Parts: sequence; structure tokens; C-alpha cells
Amino acid sequence: MKILNMFFSTTGNTAKVAQTISNTVQQAGHHIETVKVKKDLDLDLLSYDLIFVGSGIYEWLPGQPMISLFTKLRRQYAAQGEIKPSAPRRHGKKVVVYCTYGGCHTGPNEALPAVKFMGQLFDHLGFDIVGEWYTVGEYHPEIYKAMSSGGRLGDIRGRPHEGDLAEIAEKVKGILLV
Ligand SMILES: Cc1cc2nc3c(=O)[nH]c(=O)nc-3n(C[C@H](O)[C@H](O)[C@H](O)COP(=O)(O)O)c2cc1C
Repeated sequence: MKILNMFFSTTGNTAKVAQTISNTVQQAGHHIETVKVKKDLDLDLLSYDLIFVGSGIYEWLPGQPMISLFTKLRRQYAAQGEIKPSAPRRHGKKVVVYCTYGGCHTGPNEALPAVKFMGQLFDHLGFDIVGEWYTVGEYHPEIYKAMSSGGRLGDIRGRPHEGDLAEIAEKVKGILLV
């Protein structure tokens, strides 16, 4: 099984989740490629059987490099005829979409557009979306600090904490059985 973990993180929260995913996959005896996304990254998504894709949430969306990369890849795969009407399934290809988010104003709904956006490229390509994981991540920049203790999700300082990462590890083990 060929496995990829592609993620974007600016303040380190999603990087912690990405690291947990990669460690857990390796501990289960599989090889995994872990890549921090840049907009002009060259990736052959169709060569992987299982992909983990994740980002922090910034103004309800994934990081700009992730958006730019997805725009480029969607155009590239459409031009190659790999995105077909009705999006026929590619047997055995799976994706897990994950994010970390602060949810200060409206909770998990703030993260929903980004997770759905990231999933769509893979769904269009015929991958089955086998997980959508939302992990809380505190706001690190000084100007946003108050949002980590006075928002819709209450006090999220220190998140993702060990319990959050342990939950991710358990979910990864579950996904490897799918
Ligand atoms: C500039 C900025 C914008 C953010 N916008 C949102 C947002 O719209 N919705 C949300 O739920 N969280 C938002 N957050 C919180 C981040 O999504 C959260 O802290 C996340 O864990 C950051 O991931 P990272 O550390 O991997 O970059 C924002 C954080 C920053 C720094």
C-alpha cells in the first residue's frame, strides 16, 4: 500500500497531527511519505492508495499554498481526462481529510468549508473519503490569544493536547483496517 500524508501548517498545530498520523502509520509497519505543501509541489496523487490531507483553517479556508496547489492539480487532472463525469470510483483509493481549527466564532462550522474543499479534488478523482477529522487547535499569534479562551469552544489553550493526538492515533489504526 502506497501512503502519502500531505499537510499545511503555519503555527504548528496541524504539523503535530500530521506527525502523529505518520508515526502511527509507521508503527503499524507501513511506509508513508510526509510532505509539507507548497503551491508548486509536484505530486502524482493517483499513484497512492491512501492519502491523508490536512491543513489549519485560516478565514474558513485551508492555507493559501494548499488552495493554490489544489487549483493547479484540478486543472492538470481535468486536462489529462482523469476527472470524469459522475466521478467513477478508483477501486481501493482512499483519502482522509483532516484539519485543526480554533472555532472561536461559530465552532466546527468554520472548518467545514475547508475540509469539504480539500475532499472534493479526491472525490472528483474517484477516491473514497473514508474520514473527515476536525481537531481543535489554539490560536498562537499574540493578537489572537484572546480567541483561545473566549470563543464558542471555550478554553482551547494547549490544544491539540495529548488526548487529541491519542484520538488521532486510534483513528489512524482504524483507517488502516478499512
Ligand atoms: C490568521 C489566522 C486565521 C484563522 N482563522 C480561523 C478561522 O477562520 N476559523 C477557525 O476555526 N480557526 C481559525 N484560526 C485558528 C487556526 O485554524 C488554528 O489555530 C489551527 O490549529 C492553526 O493551524 P496551524 O497551527 O497548523 O497553522 C485562524 C488562525 C490564524 C493564525
